[in-house]
Amino acid sequence: MTLDAALAERIRRTPKAELHVHIEGTLEPELIFRLAQRNQVKLPYSSVEALRAAYAFTDLQSFLDIYYAGASVLLTEEDFFDMTMAYVERAVADNVRHAEIFFDPQTHTARGVDIEIVIDGIADALAQARTQYDFSSSMILCFLRHLSEEDAFATLEAALPYRDRFVGVGLDSSERGNPPEKFARVFARARELGLHRVAHAGEEGPADYVRDALDILQVERIDHGVRAIDDPALVERLARERIALTVCPLSNQKLKVYPDLRDHSLKKLLDAGVAVTIHSDDPAYFGGYMNANWEATFEALPLDAADAHRLARNSFEASFLRPALKAEYLTEVDRFWQSASPPEPARTATA
Ligand code: HPA
Ligand code: ZN
Repeated sequence: MTLDAALAERIRRTPKAELHVHIEGTLEPELIFRLAQRNQVKLPYSSVEALRAAYAFTDLQSFLDIYYAGASVLLTEEDFFDMTMAYVERAVADNVRHAEIFFDPQTHTARGVDIEIVIDGIADALAQARTQYDFSSSMILCFLRHLSEEDAFATLEAALPYRDRFVGVGLDSSERGNPPEKFARVFARARELGLHRVAHAGEEGPADYVRDALDILQVERIDHGVRAIDDPALVERLARERIALTVCPLSNQKLKVYPDLRDHSLKKLLDAGVAVTIHSDDPAYFGGYMNANWEATFEALPLDAADAHRLARNSFEASFLRPALKAEYLTEVDRFWQSASPPEPARTATA
């Protein structure tokens, strides 16, 4: 299917919110090499090209191995600042107005990097983005699900002195064999602390993990969630309860969840009334930022302008923005799509 040029332009320009991006997944190979040099970290790749050539993933784990190796160059607050600022500039260029950014403290604390360095570096860049680009954002602390719940608890406790810097917790890394119930207690604690909750579920894992993330972890959004399509009762529940699925099409393609985007469940889920949104996941690894994800999806699936308007709306509706700012963004989205619509055919006056 070819995407109509006028619709492609509107998709690029519409205001949108990014709700599923791992900041460590925005590290471009060039920046990985620059930081490796700055910090005297030895990489197992001889060049940017050799690193890029290794980005031939067969599944989630084959990606995670390289993603954690890439993050090993991050040592100082300045490194986290530079990585975050580079992401913000890409997002602004794609008309992303608001982002809720995942970070993986355990990837860094396990290497001896203090959690304060991680949080301050990212938060300082986001504060600058707010004034420089009018770019709103928040941070979501993710637990690595291949590690123990005890480790997740220790991470949450270590982050509490910086409680005002993040709005919620998430769950990422290897899904298979690490079901939601493994983290029941730490998510209950997060809830007590008034933190929002999201979790990756139904990416490689089964539809049951989506249900368990809702029932056991009491999450408010599901990251990916595409396997929900296997369970009609679950799809109906997601639609009824307005649980958003933050879908990342290029990630799904590169990690072989949907090797051919024409087979992607996004359109079916949207048509079933599920609050689907489109995001970039780990854009430096999967071949594109927000607009690349939107365009590839619209190229592959029979989506129209009304779908694009809905997807843009969903992204702000599913955000954890305070109601007044959310309403402002939604008005902006509606105005954009109303003004960008083709003119109504001229009506003849009736008496
Ligand atoms: N899935 C699970 N863990 C991750 C991902 C993902 O897509 N990206 C970064 N960590
Ligand atoms: Zn993800």
